[in-house]
Amino acid sequence: MAETLTIKVEKTQQSKINSIDFNNLPFGQICTDHMLVCDYIDGAWQQPTVVPYQNISLDPAAKIFHYGQSVFEGMKAYKDQDEKVWLFRPLDNYNRINISAKRLAIPEFPENYFMEGLKTLLQVDKDWIPTTEGSSLYIRPFVFATGVGFHASPSSNYKFVIACSPSGAYFGGKVKVLIEQTYSRSANGGVGYAKAGGNYAGQFYPTQLAIDKGYQQVIWTDDTTHEFIEEAGAMNIFIRINDTLITAPTSDRILDGITRKSIIAIAEDSGINVEVRKISVKELVESAKNGSLKEMFGAGTAAVISPIAGFGFDGTDYDIPEIEDRYAPLLKKKITDIQYNRASDKFGWRFEVK
Ligand code: PLP
Ligand code: COI
Repeated sequence: MAETLTIKVEKTQQSKINSIDFNNLPFGQICTDHMLVCDYIDGAWQQPTVVPYQNISLDPAAKIFHYGQSVFEGMKAYKDQDEKVWLFRPLDNYNRINISAKRLAIPEFPENYFMEGLKTLLQVDKDWIPTTEGSSLYIRPFVFATGVGFHASPSSNYKFVIACSPSGAYFGGKVKVLIEQTYSRSANGGVGYAKAGGNYAGQFYPTQLAIDKGYQQVIWTDDTTHEFIEEAGAMNIFIRINDTLITAPTSDRILDGITRKSIIAIAEDSGINVEVRKISVKELVESAKNGSLKEMFGAGTAAVISPIAGFGFDGTDYDIPEIEDRYAPLLKKKITDIQYNRASDKFGWRFEVK
């Protein structure tokens, strides 16, 4: 790592911002004018640079293509009414990308490179942060192996990149989910707790099978017995039985979600009884049958809080009738009010980008 950090900025000559319809933003399809890049060469991270958004050229023998050494993060930047720019718990994302990197034998990225690099990029692309309701700038930091060779061993070189995408909602509305009884997202001793690209590749096929059956997402269960509920697609899961909000404890197999831990804190602070404990499919099905299942929702950066309309299990569909005074909209309002600087932040989670 270089001793002094200097972030060079090379600005684009041709901004594409005027061609973007900010009132009609998809999720993660459009990228901003710039990106941050930083190479790991000769055993050290080189100086990070902000460059015009562009293709990356790689040797076909680059190890990312063969052995999937790649990890990423998902975060958002929010603009308030006074055009101030905010991040939400960014150091948690920084710490987690290094937890993921370590598991994939990728060298850790220095904190000041991450934070200063991200701040510089956001200053350069500030005009891209949307202000339309429900929109934000989705930020995707990622690292991948650029070193070449077919030997199945860690790469010697890597590239760290941050790309940003002005984005609208991840899901259009409530989703119907299928409880997975065959496939697993992760296993004990595996990489489920890391945000490794391959974790998502492994989800696509079982998710497509669920989509073909009329569901939008898979509820992942534990790999050994498929009896316990773990995650909701690429989100952590919350289940409300009567007035108790239950979420699975994190483990080797579950991503330690920043939204999840924030929702737990906000719910407890709002007087909601929260239980972090294993919850079985049997308990879920029984609660749906006896009417004590009040709500289910996924929680993650991209989707924020995504209410679940019902679930399928063993060939039967269970609907979750919509009640008044739901926790999901209340918790969503409380977390987004902090994120968009619309409410005071007693937890100290908000981080201003100046
Ligand atoms: N679980 C998985 C598998 C994810 O990919 C994500 C998304 O980041 C989450 C949970 C939610 O984590 P966070 O709230 O930190 O975005
Ligand atoms: C996020 O919520 O930020 C994620 O990374 C999930 C995703 C795969 C879009």
